Amino acid sequence: MKLSVIGCGYVGLVSGACLAALGNEVICVDIDKRKIALLKKQKMPIYEPGLEALVRENCRKRRLSFTSDLKSAVSGSDVIFIAVGTPPRPNGEADLSFIENVARTIAEEMDSFKIIVEKSTVPVETGEWIKKTVERYAKKSAKFEVASNPEFLREGTAVKDFMNPDRIILGVESKRAEEVLREIYRPLKAPVVATDIRSAEIIKHASNSFLATKISFINAISTICDAAKADVDQVALGVGLDKRIGPGFLNAGIGFGGFCFPKDLAAFIRISEKLGYNFELLKAVEKINQEQKQVFLKKIEQAIWNVSSKTIGVLGLSFKPNTDDMRFAPSLDILQALQAQGAKIKAFDPHAMPKAKALLKDVMFCKDSYSVCRGSDCLAILTEWEDFRKMDLKKVKSLLNQPVIVDGRNIYDPKEMRALGFRYFSMGRPS
Ligand code: UDX
Repeated sequence: MKLSVIGCGYVGLVSGACLAALGNEVICVDIDKRKIALLKKQKMPIYEPGLEALVRENCRKRRLSFTSDLKSAVSGSDVIFIAVGTPPRPNGEADLSFIENVARTIAEEMDSFKIIVEKSTVPVETGEWIKKTVERYAKKSAKFEVASNPEFLREGTAVKDFMNPDRIILGVESKRAEEVLREIYRPLKAPVVATDIRSAEIIKHASNSFLATKISFINAISTICDAAKADVDQVALGVGLDKRIGPGFLNAGIGFGGFCFPKDLAAFIRISEKLGYNFELLKAVEKINQEQKQVFLKKIEQAIWNVSSKTIGVLGLSFKPNTDDMRFAPSLDILQALQAQGAKIKAFDPHAMPKAKALLKDVMFCKDSYSVCRGSDCLAILTEWEDFRKMDLKKVKSLLNQPVIVDGRNIYDPKEMRALGFRYFSMGRPS
């Protein structure tokens, strides 16, 4: 099938490359000419495991191409996936102006039947708006349909997630659109939920909100565990083995970040408000997530007393491992709070340092984890990169000014750390 994917961000680029790998002819479009020039040279604008190889292979097989010319992409494809950004406005609502612009251009260029699919995370009723916009600006009398096909890709495992989805959601208005979309996804053999567009839109926001709720729930439990001298990892294990709850997303830490959960949660709260419902539960999820950074900062104070003029070595800056993404990373607030109290910061992240450098001032960025340890009064772990788990802890101890680690991601065993002579603090586990 001939497809185009509008927007070459995390979602669009991964979806475009994977849809090509499923055997379709895919044109990926972006208004950012620099990004398109890079992609034409098969260089990736983002770090995502497996993506570069997939792009190269599908470009070589001539199933994948890149352009900044939206008009030609529209006329050359039967199905158009919209994967442009929906950034948050100051009040938490999603800014849908990019979606509107794309819908307008599609309307102006449409010369044959098209299925227009929203892939970006959007508030319920966006499908309706796309339909109205296309109707309003259509120049020719070509027919079209709107559909919703939300993505559930996690950064760092996005290619794998696309190829092995738990489910595929198709929000459609006709059998014709359903059949076309089912055909596109047929090679994936995942359960398909075919429903109406509004329900599909809500499925996306409800899924992300539920996952965020699980994280804030376990973070709240970790605070209780700290007070009661219990172990949150054991609690999560015992709770998660109940099949009705499930073990995923029960890792206590410094809170969730990234460009999806914080923004989708805020957007869903706003949508609910507009629909007449005050979503108190999700407001509490947001609040707990904010407070979790304070919990972590308190632990640092508990470990070294005054932070002022001490050197804090920071391992990990990205909002989670296997990505260079710094958007809404908890590290940003935590480092700024430490600096505001007069701490000096040394930091290392395996992939996020170029992006972090643009966002954080007066941080000494180091070439590796051991350089961070050298001369630091406390080692703070903010992202659970695999490399940090494998560090030579004896060497770490010898390099630190004092053997103090505050682990925001629970990557080490407290007993082993004690045996090695560390003063080790983690989230919701006895130190
Ligand atoms: C998320 C959703 O998982 C995905 O389905 C959606 O489409 C996009 O948003 P992503 O933001 O890439 O994906 O990251 P995810 O792996 O879900 O983690 C989100 C945040 O939650 C990270 O900051 C992570 O550190 C945190 N997290 C996750 C926890 O603190 N504890 C957990 O148990 C799981």
